Amino acid sequence: MSTAPRRILVTSALPYANGPIHIGHLVEYLQTDIWVRFQKLRGHECHYVCADDAHGTPIMLRAEQEGIAPEALIARIGAEHLADFTAFGVAFDNYHSTHSPENREIATLIYERLRDAGHITRRAIQQAFDPVKQMFLPDRFIKGTCPRCGAQDQYGDNCEACGATYAPTDLLDPRSVLTGVTPEQRESEHLFFRLGNFETMLKEWLADSDLQPGVVNKLQEWFEAGLQDWDISRDAPYFGFEIPDAPGKYFYVWLDAPIGYLASFRHFCNRTGVDFGSFCADDSTAEMYHFIGKDIMYFHTLFWPAMLKGAGFRLPSSVFVHGFLTVDGQKMSKSRGTFITARTYLDHLHPEYLRYYFAAKLGAAIDDIDLNLEDFQHRVNADLVGKVVNIASRCAGFITRNFAGRLAAQGDDPALVSALQAAGSGIAQAYEAREFGRAMREIMALADRVNQYIDQRKPWVLAKQENAAEELHAVCSTGIELFRLLLIYLKPVLPFMAREAEEFLACGELHWRDHETVLGEHVIKPFKPLLNRIDPAKVTAMIEDSKATPPTPAAKAANPAPAAGAAVTAPEKADAPAQISIDEFGRIDLRVARVAAANAVEGADKLVQLTLDLGTETRQVFAGIKAACAPEALVGKLVVMVANLAPRKMRFGVSEGMVLAASGEGPGIFLISPETGAEPGMRVK
Ligand code: 2FM
Ligand code: ZN
Repeated sequence: MSTAPRRILVTSALPYANGPIHIGHLVEYLQTDIWVRFQKLRGHECHYVCADDAHGTPIMLRAEQEGIAPEALIARIGAEHLADFTAFGVAFDNYHSTHSPENREIATLIYERLRDAGHITRRAIQQAFDPVKQMFLPDRFIKGTCPRCGAQDQYGDNCEACGATYAPTDLLDPRSVLTGVTPEQRESEHLFFRLGNFETMLKEWLADSDLQPGVVNKLQEWFEAGLQDWDISRDAPYFGFEIPDAPGKYFYVWLDAPIGYLASFRHFCNRTGVDFGSFCADDSTAEMYHFIGKDIMYFHTLFWPAMLKGAGFRLPSSVFVHGFLTVDGQKMSKSRGTFITARTYLDHLHPEYLRYYFAAKLGAAIDDIDLNLEDFQHRVNADLVGKVVNIASRCAGFITRNFAGRLAAQGDDPALVSALQAAGSGIAQAYEAREFGRAMREIMALADRVNQYIDQRKPWVLAKQENAAEELHAVCSTGIELFRLLLIYLKPVLPFMAREAEEFLACGELHWRDHETVLGEHVIKPFKPLLNRIDPAKVTAMIEDSKATPPTPAAKAANPAPAAGAAVTAPEKADAPAQISIDEFGRIDLRVARVAAANAVEGADKLVQLTLDLGTETRQVFAGIKAACAPEALVGKLVVMVANLAPRKMRFGVSEGMVLAASGEGPGIFLISPETGAEPGMRVK
């Protein structure tokens, strides 16, 4: 692999300034940080910038709730975020805020260029309006009864009970989350970015930028669905930047969020003298990469490149997409204590345990990764403590005690040293390709070889033999040399341990190219334990603490995808269904039932009141299935029902279960019906 110096600008997605960093976020920041550290270690000019995503309705409302100005809230949360990142070793070259003069300037510039080039259009849309609060409501600020399954208290964009997606106007009894009143429909003029103007350009970019296969597939789907105009404005009151030629209208948070990448870099350039244009101008020969989660692909692979192109900036070299984090195979959960904030983790455990574990699990694909708490302890203890640190601790004492800290000029096993040195290029390739799991496996396989070597040469036996001092010296010196090589390879992942090891080795700051050399005759310092085994009691305490910490607003709910009227395909949701275990599946009591009676419900367009015969009992269920067929046609049909759903009190009566039906993006609803021969009461498995 060529090592000619490269110039690289790297970003991670900007966290919302209204909630704490948690271990789910950390997948991305640690992945990016490891990649950036690797590039720097290789001697490339690499700048890593980020910022807090400070705008939008939820942040405005949270500040209001706390009785403080939004500026005060975002300053406090921004400082907390940066402290958490720093403690985890995430080394940004600049951490800024989207609520900054740089961002206002670049957002305005980009908007004006897009407008002048004919890429902005205006039209009036209908939107939910809270007459008490006197503001338009984003979908997530409207709740009501799901039109499909009748579940109460569902958000205006999707139902957490049955997974249906819909517009807030479809909710059966919509109300404002802020005041409880029924929202009105009001008209307002909005500004739209004409994404469709960029279809050809986006297809060319897709062909050039070496995106992951999962991203390419998604983009192709979106192209087939057609690129729609994107609503980039929001009405006052809104915390953000007012649009220069549209008083009372503000840039939608998602417009100025990615521009925050450039603004943070501009801020960095202003303070360091690095040339902004040479990284960001249209003709830049530098590289620019964005690390993001799979839920925000639409913004980064369609809107963002189109905005950049339309405003005369360079395009991203690529966008690197990762999956979500599960803990013990499940979505992070407050009640299980697996919704672990960065701070709670740090209160109990060393950050490098998690850095290493994530590295060991990360690859270049978009797959979700799982933090299995048993495996986490086992792997960290076995690999880092049992293999890597063990090498130094087995050899260093002899060097200090028997040889006054001086390594032997001549090592003992040059073939093994050469083998570790030769492995460097393969490990570098794995890092470059973000195949960190592969890199860790290769490094641990080398650590195994070094431990086998020490096992065979038995310095503790040599130390007791007469006339074996020279051999002992050579063996232990070789062990230290090999430890140093492993440390170089692990340095992007374990920056804190690497710093302590550099201290112990008294070798100055290690760079990647140093793996081509050895220390030779050289004095090291006394060895101090570099990392302890994970204490299981601390993991348990962390989980208990996570159950106890007060709930915080879900960051992902902060500025959910498009507002009503914005005709874009919703990006994948952060809270896509997580895996469930076979035991959890077994707890769902699915039964065949026969529809004994079916009646329309007065006052609810979509609901049908069903009387279901389960063989041994009958149940009343309200189901949002009127679109499937007329109520009378349902009588006598066999359906599948969830028989052990807790009864729910609805406006029209108590619903004692749920019937299964299929639906997609379109309006159709299709009842699931067992084949002829099934009997009411039969278990569905
Ligand atoms: O999804 C999120 O958490 C957003 N705050 C990410 C913004 S990334 C970029 F576009 F700024
Ligand atoms: Zn539902």
